[in-house]
Amino acid sequence: MLRQQRKLDHIEYALKLGQPGITNGFEDIYLINNSLSSLKLDNIDTTCFFMGKKLQAPLLINAITGGHPSVMNINRSLARVARQTGIAMAVGSQMSGLENSEVKQTYEIARQENPNGVILANLNAGAPPEQAAAAVKMISADGLQLYLNIPQELAMPEGDRDFSGIITNISEVVSALDVPVIIKEVGSGLSGETIATLYNMGVRYVDVGGQGGTNFIAIESMRSGREISNEMLNWGIPTAVSLLEGLGLGLPIFIIASGGLKTGIDVAKAITLGAFLAGIAKPFLKELMEKSEEALLSKIDGIIHELRLAMLMSGAENLAQMKKKPVIITGKVAEWTKCRGIDVSIYAQR
Ligand SMILES: Cc1cc2nc3c(=O)[nH]c(=O)nc-3n(C[C@H](O)[C@H](O)[C@H](O)COP(=O)(O)O)c2cc1C
Repeated sequence: MLRQQRKLDHIEYALKLGQPGITNGFEDIYLINNSLSSLKLDNIDTTCFFMGKKLQAPLLINAITGGHPSVMNINRSLARVARQTGIAMAVGSQMSGLENSEVKQTYEIARQENPNGVILANLNAGAPPEQAAAAVKMISADGLQLYLNIPQELAMPEGDRDFSGIITNISEVVSALDVPVIIKEVGSGLSGETIATLYNMGVRYVDVGGQGGTNFIAIESMRSGREISNEMLNWGIPTAVSLLEGLGLGLPIFIIASGGLKTGIDVAKAITLGAFLAGIAKPFLKELMEKSEEALLSKIDGIIHELRLAMLMSGAENLAQMKKKPVIITGKVAEWTKCRGIDVSIYAQR
């Protein structure tokens, strides 16, 4: 029951929280205008393959919800919109559905509404292989997201305090499942060291879940009424930085950029740097909850349209070409990468 109530609280507080002034780092990233881009907008191709299926754009409706009868409509709408726009979707943590069969349908609805699309299962990274397999089976998922959220747990009065065993558990889940496992953060960002460790454990997909968007430290502090310092609220790795930390490793690993992405230009910047997909959670939830399913549909169409404009303005007809276009990295992100010895000069010289 506590878990179910928490899921409702997260929606309520995520929607209530304004812009805390913490950025995702993409304001320091610039694409280059190409005045001689000799392309037709109609020919710009944003399609890609993910989990063996074709997506119309490199976009993911990131994990949000499930597990309470009142959120069934949210997953129904998200799945419908994912089907209509041809993008991927993840359900929220399925622990409630594994513990209580009465709420399983709040997750299953996603697969029912989108039988052929890419749908990802979702659980905490501490969930053992049997639960991971059951979550995948529940929605015939194409892959499983396991989330890491230490800052959130610590900010929650009822949260976990013991994170031992997490690395062993992830390894066991990765080898037990017959679908890919994506390790994701929920807003504090993955470091290069974490991504390298995950790679050495056999993980081939990560979602950086960086800072600059949904802030679970702020959400949990609002939920509990406990005061928290600005410095604590500011804990984390901005999304653009986390993406570069991962890409700087030069490993053959699929990196999803998420955390504070809002526009088609944000998506274009992430993809041009080298992200495989861009994930968005709260801005989609907000559009759906405060407006309508139609509004969400047109928001996603608008983001894809803006991505296409960015591609044309950069002179790229498809995503592979876009990934070869120059990018300028300035400000805090440039300073951070310099301190960490990540060579970003390659982007400007492309
Ligand atoms: C209301 C809400 C609930 C969420 N629940 C989950 C969850 O169950 N599992 C998970 O991995 N991430 C969850 N997330 C995190 C998102 O998937 C995403 O990583 C994070 O919100 C950053 O993206 P954003 O800035 O676009 O919101 C949730 C986010 C929101 C806003």
